Amino acid sequence: MTRKKLAAVRGMNDLLPAEAPVWEWLEARVADWVRSYGYQLIRTPLLEHTELFVRGIGEVTDIVEKEMYSFEDRLNGENLTLRPEFTAGTVRAAVEHNLTYEGPRRVWSMGPVFRHERPQRGRYRQFHQVNVEALGFAGPDIDAEHIVMLARLWKILGVGPVRLEINCLGQADERARHRAELITYFESHRDALDEDAQRRLHTNPLRILDTKNPALAEVVAQAPKITGYLGDGSRAHFEGLQRLLEASGISFTVNPRLVRGLDYYNLTVFEWITDALGAQGTICGGGRYDPLVERMGGRASPSCGYAFGMERVVELLKESATVDMTTSTDVYVAHQGGATAAQAFRVAEQLRDAGLDAVYHAGEGSLKSQMKKADASGAEYAVIVGEAELGNGAVALKALRGPAGAAGGGEQRIVPLERLADELVDALTRSEQQS
Ligand code: HAM
Repeated sequence: MTRKKLAAVRGMNDLLPAEAPVWEWLEARVADWVRSYGYQLIRTPLLEHTELFVRGIGEVTDIVEKEMYSFEDRLNGENLTLRPEFTAGTVRAAVEHNLTYEGPRRVWSMGPVFRHERPQRGRYRQFHQVNVEALGFAGPDIDAEHIVMLARLWKILGVGPVRLEINCLGQADERARHRAELITYFESHRDALDEDAQRRLHTNPLRILDTKNPALAEVVAQAPKITGYLGDGSRAHFEGLQRLLEASGISFTVNPRLVRGLDYYNLTVFEWITDALGAQGTICGGGRYDPLVERMGGRASPSCGYAFGMERVVELLKESATVDMTTSTDVYVAHQGGATAAQAFRVAEQLRDAGLDAVYHAGEGSLKSQMKKADASGAEYAVIVGEAELGNGAVALKALRGPAGAAGGGEQRIVPLERLADELVDALTRSEQQS
């Protein structure tokens, strides 16, 4: 009987070994980069109470209306949701553990998030974000820090060009006045609106400005802009941010129609966009969310943050050829089976004791096929534990790469077991210095 093969859930990807080096490279760069700005790691659960996201992200957002993986826990009837983003959970944790009690906090996270969207290139149902939050900071300097640190990251990663759009959404009362005017305006153009826009007209008219429907371009272009409703405080915040960006040599465009898809934002919002990825070109989005901490039951703490999509950045990295995608190890340990296999097993552990990366040849196989595997492993050297040499307390050491190994045949010499680790460390240090 043939069994049906099982496949992954649609829109959820496996990370296979061939693609792992670029993810590992990115994750290592990210960890160094956030540390250089003083951000500390925070890890919150993948599952939270559904109520958290409804309250945090907003009831009439695409995410909460139709994209969340929500279910009832059969065992205790709790309503749970796989996190569709990090901000709500991070704020929940900060409030629950009083993180901002002693002053503002800079925190970051990295991991999978889940949204039931229509999968296409750059858009998945499980994807990964690097998320950064600054909790308890009021001034535009921290908004600027976020943008400046992202500009630095794009440079470190060698991805580009990436353009920056910013906007100011003002405060709740300013948005309420703008919203009322927007509704009046869109009502007077009701016939021009599509079904989605008509539905949003009274629930979330701001999102109509964000429409992807080209037929609405004209009516949206003429709509009242938030800029006209900003009070002195909001304007000063936005101007402060722009001055800092200009002083840091960061180019940006003010896009008065940039509204973002989550409801918690006020004042600054921004997005980084690339033309290299087709329709899903937004690699990063964020902004300020001053009222959220209080809405989650904490003490009022003005805050801001952002997240970038790792799949999208990985796609850019693969195109830029910055990352060495080859696998590598220091040494491959081959043998002739029997007692030599057991000895090779121990030799591999001794080499690891000396700080080397070693791959042991598990199982059997001719020396020829073992040398092929050694080569494919990316090893610099092969150690061959053979019966004849082992009788004299020695093994064969063969260079697989570099000038010594280039000819394919590779230089091979006999090395006493007690000298093996030292010789390998010396040889590898020498070849590292030469490259
Ligand atoms: P967001 O704009 O919803 O913001 O998502 C941030 C980034 O995640 C996007 O710019 C995009 O690169 C990536 N992304 C979103 N959806 C998908 C998808 N289906 N597949 C692949 N990548 C995707 C937030 O999530 C906010 N929590 C950011 C934030 C943090 N604001 C303040 N703090």
